Amino acid sequence: MTTRHRTAVLISGRGSNMLALIEAARDPDYPAEIALVLSNRADARGLAAAKERGIATAVIDHKIYAGRDEFEKSMQVLLDLHRIEFICLAGFMRILTPSFVQRWHGRLINIHPSLLPAFRGLDTHERALAEGVKIHGCSVHFVVPSLDEGPIIAQAAVAVEEGDTPESLAARVLEKEHVIYPAALAALARGALEIRGNRVVWKFGATPPEVFPRS
Ligand code: GRF
Repeated sequence: MTTRHRTAVLISGRGSNMLALIEAARDPDYPAEIALVLSNRADARGLAAAKERGIATAVIDHKIYAGRDEFEKSMQVLLDLHRIEFICLAGFMRILTPSFVQRWHGRLINIHPSLLPAFRGLDTHERALAEGVKIHGCSVHFVVPSLDEGPIIAQAAVAVEEGDTPESLAARVLEKEHVIYPAALAALARGALEIRGNRVVWKFGATPPEVFPRS
């Protein structure tokens, strides 16, 4: 029987990546179970979707805490209570402290809507169009203290088309996000990822998902 590692998904909003992870984890052979969805915002749309699917949800409102350390202490208590082994950030709009990130080293991953290291930060699709890039995409990476850095686990690319708007480009990239995030979590939970310096090696014959757009 597949060992299913208890995973928390941290969200602040829509939660479409969260849903992609929940859907993937419905397969009994998927090596992770989404055991908790945690949001820093009570109005995060993804919370209702998670609840409907019978997933434990929790809200820890960062605004009631004196600082990041206190906020993260509460998160850690909850993560411990739910015996969480891995964390997926999925549109979680809080910066994590180095000590939290260090504590979860190698077990904390994020999805970012650009081909890192290009376009770290926000408004990636607008900026990609403004720069006139022909290829754009998304990345799943291990989280390190510096924002949107950390060893890259998987990437997927889309071609930028004439007439693309930030919204149309975002929609095509999002489809790819929903493919690579579940694949990356599966590899992590199977123990198939090894961090060597700034690189991630896929082991045991596991391979990253499709990287380039089909022509
Ligand atoms: C996604 O574009 C993700 O790459 C970024 O935030 C967005 C979250 O969207 N980190 P959703 O909440 O998963 O729908």
